[in-house]
Amino acid sequence: MFWRWEFSGTPPRSQGSPRRSSFLPPSKEKLWYIINMDLLGKIVSLSKRRGFVFPNSEIYGGIQGFYDFGPLGVEMKNNIKRLWWEWMLSHNNVVGIDGSIITHPMVWEASGHVKGFTDPLVDCKKCKKRFRADQLTEKLESRESGAAGEDLLKKLTKALKDKKCPECGGELTKPRLFNLMVGVDLGVVEGQKRQTFLRGEACQTIYLNYENVRNTMRKKIPFGIIQIGKVFRNEITPKQFLFRVKEFEQWDLQWFVNPKQMKKWYQYWKKERMSWYKSLVNQPKKVRFRKHAEDELAHYAKVAYDIEYQTSFGWKEWEGIHWRGDWDLSRHGQFAKKDFTYTDPETGEKFIPWIVETSGGVGRTFLFLLLDAYHEEETKDKKRMVLKLDPRIAPYKAAVFPLLANKPELVYKAREIYQDLRKSYSVAWDDRGNIGKRYFSQDEIGTPWCLTVDFQTSKDDTITIRDRDSTKQERIKIKDLKKIISEKLKVKK
Ligand code: GAP
Repeated sequence: MFWRWEFSGTPPRSQGSPRRSSFLPPSKEKLWYIINMDLLGKIVSLSKRRGFVFPNSEIYGGIQGFYDFGPLGVEMKNNIKRLWWEWMLSHNNVVGIDGSIITHPMVWEASGHVKGFTDPLVDCKKCKKRFRADQLTEKLESRESGAAGEDLLKKLTKALKDKKCPECGGELTKPRLFNLMVGVDLGVVEGQKRQTFLRGEACQTIYLNYENVRNTMRKKIPFGIIQIGKVFRNEITPKQFLFRVKEFEQWDLQWFVNPKQMKKWYQYWKKERMSWYKSLVNQPKKVRFRKHAEDELAHYAKVAYDIEYQTSFGWKEWEGIHWRGDWDLSRHGQFAKKDFTYTDPETGEKFIPWIVETSGGVGRTFLFLLLDAYHEEETKDKKRMVLKLDPRIAPYKAAVFPLLANKPELVYKAREIYQDLRKSYSVAWDDRGNIGKRYFSQDEIGTPWCLTVDFQTSKDDTITIRDRDSTKQERIKIKDLKKIISEKLKVKK
């Protein structure tokens, strides 16, 4: 099945109507469709219509589990990543790397992914469709990918005894384990190619570089390494738009500690990460912790808490805080025949460092922030759609308009302001339609401030600034504009 079902709610273009620019707000007919779709459907539709996210390989019918970020999407994604990166680096003893996606195949033997990174799979004997077995039982459906073992298989075999195919009612096979790693062949000569994998989790490159970073940066334990990078997983059922895909980006912190201090640091990062996520959303009540049950734990984790977000399709994992202990450095030590024992320079104590991991998805953050930001409001005569994104995350920080497009003096001045402002911020320009439509168009993509040059501008060097959320307008001096925007960007809305 291709991505099309997710876009099936996209409103049709009305017959015979002139081709509209996607820059303008939707027609009444379009708006009706949009308001009556479920929230995720609305986000999917908005994302495509306004250039946030496009289905990959669309001209060939799409490919399930892959998406491309469009012009506004890439701005927003970069803003999110920048915020995370800077916030992480604001902590003591944290440094970053950017590792390669393909590594030596032994990495995945050592990490346990070749053997243990599996999900339970069932096939329908009649229609041949495949399902994630745990997602066919209500009790287990919130389980995340990649941690299925023999115990879970036994439970599922029992739970799914009388279960039929949800698509055609046919008989299902017994659940079996399916490895999620995406294989790749390296080499040029057929028959002599070497099989390795695309990264199944980004953090492995951090462990591979643990000693390089510690030595070159002269770091003492405790210290942390961060990275944002691509990950590939053969998910059995990619779904809910960007929520579960086959290619995505993860952000990781791997914090290396003395085992005696593991508990303290685990609590510390759990609290820090929760406060960061809460600071990004309009509704912090929709963010919570969930502790993993024993049979849910990934093969590398002794304890795991998820930070979850209450989406329109249920509470879902946003980030995992994992107590990885000495699993990673011990395993790589064993497989690479390397001793990772660390000697504390002050006490002389020797130990293999333990690891606290905080690992979240960039695409998931992107989706959850869109779900959190999406609002529909009734104004005097119209419905307004507005993305109440944190201004730091919004693709454009401001939009500049001349009040009328056919008055050269207004257009000239507005253009001058636009050119100057875009040296510092990402800024939109719009001179189409009337001012109300331009405001609505910017509200829909989350632009926090709209700046209009009008007839008073030439008299007193002022423009109006209109706030996205309150829709209130003020007059400000052009010379104060950059200062005002930079002040506003410091304050969380
Ligand atoms: N290194 C640990 C690790 O990979 P994980 O819980 O499997 O842990 C971390 O993944 C985060 O990556 C998740 O919390 C989620 O935000 C994101 N993620 C995982 N699988 C994903 C998928 N198929 N599509 C989108 N994001 C995903």
